Amino acid sequence: MLLDTYGRVATDLRVSLTDRCNLRCTYCMPEEGLQWLAKPQLLTDDEIVRLIRIAVTDLGVDEVRFTGGEPLLRPGLVGIVERCAALEPRPQLSLTTNGIGLERTAAALREAGLDRVNVSLDTLRPDVFQRMTRRKRHADVLRGLEAARAAGLTPVKVNTVLMPGLNDDEAPDLLAWAVENDYELRFIEQMPLDAQHGWQRDGMITAGDILESLRTRFTLTPEGEEARGSAPAERWTVDGGPHRVGVIASVTRPFCRACDRTRLTADGQVRTCLFAREESDLRGALRGGAGDAEVARLWKQAMWGKKAGAGIDDPSFVQPDRPMSAIGG
Ligand code: GTP
Ligand code: 5AD
Ligand code: SF4
Repeated sequence: MLLDTYGRVATDLRVSLTDRCNLRCTYCMPEEGLQWLAKPQLLTDDEIVRLIRIAVTDLGVDEVRFTGGEPLLRPGLVGIVERCAALEPRPQLSLTTNGIGLERTAAALREAGLDRVNVSLDTLRPDVFQRMTRRKRHADVLRGLEAARAAGLTPVKVNTVLMPGLNDDEAPDLLAWAVENDYELRFIEQMPLDAQHGWQRDGMITAGDILESLRTRFTLTPEGEEARGSAPAERWTVDGGPHRVGVIASVTRPFCRACDRTRLTADGQVRTCLFAREESDLRGALRGGAGDAEVARLWKQAMWGKKAGAGIDDPSFVQPDRPMSAIGG
């Protein structure tokens, strides 16, 4: 079991498969991209599957989410999913993607055993998409979303970050669109995880702003705390249901007390939190010949050091060294 000193147990593993991305979202990375990890630094497919097997069979992890960068850029993705789906006990398998290329791979991923996907989409307007991601790929994402729904990777969730002056007027339109297309929309507060360190607390759109904007057009009814469990999203039913909308308010309403996550970076480091300042090197252990029991011990030891919370809104908060695209979203 991956227990920490606050009594939390990590059962949800997020695995970053690559730090690379084919978009350049302004709240994530600069136009020129980043210094990507070199191939030898990345875990191999075998190493990834081995670590996931240890997490699932020895450490109590029952949910595995593949992230990036952009995980669809990882050539071995379908094979990794297939091998994870064959583990006993079989974990829940999901993917967080920007949707580009999903049109081509959704059916194969479903076939391999993927249960569901979350797709990032910040705007319904192609021109705004281009300003926010610096790429002309809006239509690809929409087609990817449709392919995911058609392949049964459901519920398909859509993640949206609102940025002032770009798409902050779009919340009600996005929700109307999501309801119509049967996607579960979640708004994410912008977090200080951008490579450029440009995040500004004063400038960000808060959960409060988002709810106020949505309520100009919809009646929102809060779901109880029980329904939420350890999920980062607080949810509301829309106009009496059955559709729902979520808000992931990591800054203004942090959910760290219920956190059940452990993370693995693409270069094989365990992180206890998106905002952790320390990492534990499992790649080094694997490549140094450590057995499963030793890897499991190192992982447990890392989680024991998990801090109480991210404390983004604390005056003493310091942004972690690695950006979100390298940690895994
Ligand atoms: P499900 O609700 O199970 O589908 O997954 P999820 O919401 O955890 O997954 P997703 O990858 O879609 O994450 C959505 C967003 O939640 C991420 O982009 C982050 O902004 C936020 N998030 C995910 N994990 C963490 C975490 O450990 N800490 C914080 N503060 N935010 C997180
Ligand atoms: N703050 C909040 N969300 C972010 N994402 C990427 N960077 C940030 C950030 N700094 C979102 C992406 C995607 C999800 C994985 O994380 O838009 O939806
Ligand atoms: Fe790529 Fe996701 Fe970063 Fe956008 S937020 S540049 S899609 S890793």
